Amino acid sequence: MTELTPFEAESVDRIKAIGADQEMRDLTAGFLRRSSELQYSYNFFWMGRPIIQYPQDMAAMQELVWQTRPDLIIETGIAHGGSLIMNASLLALLDMCDAITDGTPFDPRSPRRKVLGVDIDIREHNRKAIEAHPMSNRIDMLQGSSIAEDILAQVRDYAAPFKRVLVSLDSNHTHEHVLAELEAYAPLVTSGSYCIVFDTIVEDMPEGTYPDRPWSKGNNPKTAVWKYLETHPEFSIDRAMHDKLQITVAPDGFVKRA
Ligand SMILES: C[S@@+](CC[C@H](N)C(=O)[O-])C[C@H]1O[C@@H](n2cnc3c(N)ncnc32)[C@H](O)[C@@H]1O
Repeated sequence: MTELTPFEAESVDRIKAIGADQEMRDLTAGFLRRSSELQYSYNFFWMGRPIIQYPQDMAAMQELVWQTRPDLIIETGIAHGGSLIMNASLLALLDMCDAITDGTPFDPRSPRRKVLGVDIDIREHNRKAIEAHPMSNRIDMLQGSSIAEDILAQVRDYAAPFKRVLVSLDSNHTHEHVLAELEAYAPLVTSGSYCIVFDTIVEDMPEGTYPDRPWSKGNNPKTAVWKYLETHPEFSIDRAMHDKLQITVAPDGFVKRA
């Protein structure tokens, strides 16, 4: 492990203080509740594509990609493709940095690092826009349920040659579905990397927040993470990440593999 700089060590202390600060937690909970009602997360774009995320979670992804240097990111839940494009752009920067630091050949038309997206319903206009994007040659997409056996077989084959894999789960947010995703995708996460589970925040929202959705308190990605971790000690929650972010839809959802 590399030694922390004085600034980084101070940051560790600041993050602990933020995580323990009840006023901050109350303000954050209020912001998350109201912003969810106003569909705040539906208004952001990454390189021109709508991304259904909070900017804080986008910043977290940048930090984790830089820290873990994946050569493959597997995502469930594509929607408009914003997170696919964001992750592809972060991997493009890693490829470029490798070329600068150690001379690894960098041909942006033939990228080394890749993103694989899975969605049960890739709308035609979204597929076209993703395929027309300059980042598209880093992206492959599979259409089907993220837990269907034929899809999982394709995902495993695709992932096999890659050495560092990060996973992001953001599809159907029921306990049962996310637990099945964790069972299928977490084993693909390589040592030191992450399985990021989005919308664990559902557990922390008031009852009745999602009247039109099958997920709710007690039945959501956070309960799935807790269940999965009961039998998978090789994974643990990176609490420092949500303590730092505060505003995140993934509290307890930054799951790291030892
Ligand atoms: C919240 S959106 C994904 C947002 C996207 N990751 C982003 O950041 O912009 C959820 C997506 O999950 C997809 N989905 C729902 N159920 C699914 C399933 N069983 N398997 C795969 N995808 C599913 C939906 O079609 C939808 O596009």
